[in-house]
Amino acid sequence: MTQQALGEQTARRPRILLTAGPTHEPIDAVRFIGNRSSGRLGIALAEAAASRGWETGLLLGPTCQQPSDSRVHLERFRTAEDLRGLLRTRLPGADVLVMAAAVADYRARSGALDPGTKLRRGEATLVLELEPTPDLLAEAARGARPDQLLIGFALEPGGRLLASASEKLRRKKLDLIVANPLETMDASGIDAWILASAWIGRGEEPIRVGPMSKAEFADRLLDEIARALERIPNKATC
Ligand code: CTP
Repeated sequence: MTQQALGEQTARRPRILLTAGPTHEPIDAVRFIGNRSSGRLGIALAEAAASRGWETGLLLGPTCQQPSDSRVHLERFRTAEDLRGLLRTRLPGADVLVMAAAVADYRARSGALDPGTKLRRGEATLVLELEPTPDLLAEAARGARPDQLLIGFALEPGGRLLASASEKLRRKKLDLIVANPLETMDASGIDAWILASAWIGRGEEPIRVGPMSKAEFADRLLDEIARALERIPNKATC
C-alpha cells in the first residue's frame, strides 16, 4: 500500500473491532473452564467508539452484560475456538483490533472427555488433562497488515506489571498494550498504564491512565488509538 493510500485510509472513519468478556471452555455438557470477566471495559470501549462515529464491531463472550448502543455491531462467542473463527472473518475488515477478551489459557484436551455428557461424581480423584488455547492475539498480529493497529491487555500483579506488559508488547508484536494491575480486578474504575510501540513516536515511557471510570478510560484509550492511526504511514515504513 502506498503512503498516499495509507494517508487516505486514516482520513476516513476508523473501523474498530473489539473483543470482550471471558471464553468458556467446556469440560462436559454443564461445566467449563473460564476467567472471571464481565466484559464491561470492552463494552465501554465499543460504546465510546460508536459515539465517535467509528464503525464498531464487538465480539462478546458469555456475560450477561451487553452494549446499549445499537450502532455497535454485536456478535457472540463462547470458546476460544469460536472467537478464533470470528477473528478470521472480521479482522480483515478492521483498521484496529482491541483485544480485551479474557481468553482462557487452557481447555480440556480434545478427546479427553465427552463434551456432550455430564461427568458423574465418584469417590476417586479426577485428573483433568488440559492443553493450552492458541494465543489469538499473537496469531492475529502474525496475519495483520501493516496498516492495522493491534492493541492488547496485560493483567499482571503490580510488582512486575510494566516489565511483563512491555515484554508482551514486543513478543506479541502489538502497537499498544494496556497494563492492568491484578489487584484492581473487579473494581468499578481503572488504574492502568498504556505502553506504546516505538514507531508511534511517543517514547518508550508508559503513560499512567487512572484512577478513572471505565467510560473515561475508554475515551482516553480511543484518543491514543486515534493518534496512532494518524501515524500509521510511519509504521508501514519502519
Ligand atoms: N490473549 C489471546 N489468546 C490467549 C490468551 C490471551 O489473544 N489464549 C490475549 C488477551 O486478550 C490479552 C493479551 O493476550 O489482550 C494478554 O493476555 P494475558 O492473559 O495477560 O497474557 P497471556 O498471553 O495469556 O500470558 P500469561 O498467561 O503468561 O500472562
